Amino acid sequence: MCGITGYIGYREAYPIIINGLKRLEYRGYDSAGLVLYNNDEIKLVKTKGKVSDLEKKIQENTDTSGTIGFGHTRWATHGVPNDVNSHPHYSESENLVIIHNGIIENYDTIKKALIERGYTFKSDTDTEVLINLIEEIKKKHKVKLGKAVQLALNEVVGAYAITVFDKEKPDEFVVARLGSPIAIGIGEDNKEFFIASDASPFIEYTKNAIYLEDGEMAIIKRDREIRVRNIKDDALVKYDVLELKLSLDQIEKGGFDHFMLKEIYEQPKAITDTFRGRMLPNEGIIKMQGIDDHKQKFLNANRIIIVACGTSWHAGLVAEYLFEDIARIPVEVEYGSEFRYRNPIITENDVVIAISQSGETADTLAAVKMAKEKGAFVYGVCNVVGSSIARETNAGSYTHAGPEIGVASTKAFTTQITVLTLMALKLGLEKGSISKTEFHQYLIEMGLIPDKVENLLAIDDKVKEIASIYKDATNFLYLGRGFNFPVALEGALKLKEISYIHAEGYPAAEMKHGPIALIDENMPIVVIATKKGHYDKVVSNIQEIKSRNGKIIAVVTEGDTTVKEIADHVIEIPETEEALTPLLTTIPLQLLSYHIAVMLGRNVDQPRNLAKSVTVE
Ligand code: AGP
Repeated sequence: MCGITGYIGYREAYPIIINGLKRLEYRGYDSAGLVLYNNDEIKLVKTKGKVSDLEKKIQENTDTSGTIGFGHTRWATHGVPNDVNSHPHYSESENLVIIHNGIIENYDTIKKALIERGYTFKSDTDTEVLINLIEEIKKKHKVKLGKAVQLALNEVVGAYAITVFDKEKPDEFVVARLGSPIAIGIGEDNKEFFIASDASPFIEYTKNAIYLEDGEMAIIKRDREIRVRNIKDDALVKYDVLELKLSLDQIEKGGFDHFMLKEIYEQPKAITDTFRGRMLPNEGIIKMQGIDDHKQKFLNANRIIIVACGTSWHAGLVAEYLFEDIARIPVEVEYGSEFRYRNPIITENDVVIAISQSGETADTLAAVKMAKEKGAFVYGVCNVVGSSIARETNAGSYTHAGPEIGVASTKAFTTQITVLTLMALKLGLEKGSISKTEFHQYLIEMGLIPDKVENLLAIDDKVKEIASIYKDATNFLYLGRGFNFPVALEGALKLKEISYIHAEGYPAAEMKHGPIALIDENMPIVVIATKKGHYDKVVSNIQEIKSRNGKIIAVVTEGDTTVKEIADHVIEIPETEEALTPLLTTIPLQLLSYHIAVMLGRNVDQPRNLAKSVTVE
């Protein structure tokens, strides 16, 4: 939650920071602010609202010159979104300035102690407490900024990625991280540096970056090589400079109205990128380094525990069906937030798989750490390369979906399912729970999925038409069975989060145990009724809906005639293996929620109250 970015060097800092904030807006967008320093003067502007509101405010009357500065886009935790609670925050003397992504849990105790020492507070934030603590330590111990930051961070409990500036040291700023990400972009010959929550704000300036690890800090000065220190013991840390693979066109809309739509349409390529180099049908193998290196862990596993949140949790539910059906390994799927707090029984023979697009979700990350402490082998399925979960896990596979910027997860979901399917198939073959012929057949089918998704996208206009009929509904039901029960949950989540229409997903057979009471002529019900997935049972469920006058939008296999006669609307998907149908049935549900949200005038890429990565619990 919250995006931070900054610049120090020889260029004008303002355009770099403001454009960087726009790229980071997916991380939070209830307020924004920035600070610049030039001619012995700190210029700090902040506002409730989006980065565009900040830009307007700055254009009114701010001199934006200066070659050092940093900015923040906020997702509120402590203190409602308003101008005062927006970042950056000054210290009491207004000599120090901070931006912060995270939560200082013991802020209240520190705040009370600082008030006793005469400090006053303008905002309700934990961040203002931290900057005043740094100021107090700096005065009390007569130390420089870097040392004061370090000492202060050793007093706080919580999570942070921070950047701090001191008017007395105008040629540097200090960054530190614990639990929230910070990337440092390194310009040529150390003449300039960029900092950001992810590398997107500086991708056109440099491909070289350092990712701070938890518990590390750095003082960033012009023309000086970066030194990274351990916050606890001050020891110098050896770091790697990574070469970034990200390109500018990957993080731009490329002619689409919204990132979400672009990302829906990117799925054929994203799925191909996910299995490219891994699936080798001619050799009859799937190559996955993470599994090959730890094969025995998986083959001897008593069970697999999947931990994730939101859409990634839904991908985990699909994986439960995949691993149990194809690899015959028992699976439990857990919400990161529940798992981490309920003292679960984990043994050394358990394999924990953490699924996360961002690799930064706080609850999933905490679940990973706990599972590791309890001795489990932990495997990550992440999209963001070098993310905290990717680094914290013992091994893993990236999804290679490319940057997902729309808050509503789309291609991340289908590529997670792709990776998990490959894992299940690979293990199934190793264990002998599927035959070589079946394995081969799956690989052939998987290879056809990108084209099938591509063809399926042609239904966009039809889905748009259906969206126009039901856009004013206040409730939706989504039903599916087997592999497509998680898809029903995902379809409902997609609609809720971007259109703000209430929607629930259920296993189709559960309808009779309660939700059927909701059905009347005003209730649209999306039913996934593909040919091989308990088809006859789902058809009976559709009949039950029809008898109660519910409006049926059915997702069926091409050529279906039975459901066509009963349903109000039918969306056809190409035929494939039952286990692979989620990769196809998901697409029309994504499009349906997208079009409804657009028709309702919602902010599709930045829905209210949400943020792309939930780095607070
Ligand atoms: C889904 O559209 C949401 N963006 C959300 O549920 C998301 O999947 C969840 O917050 C988990 O994020 P992660 O995959 O980055 O861990």
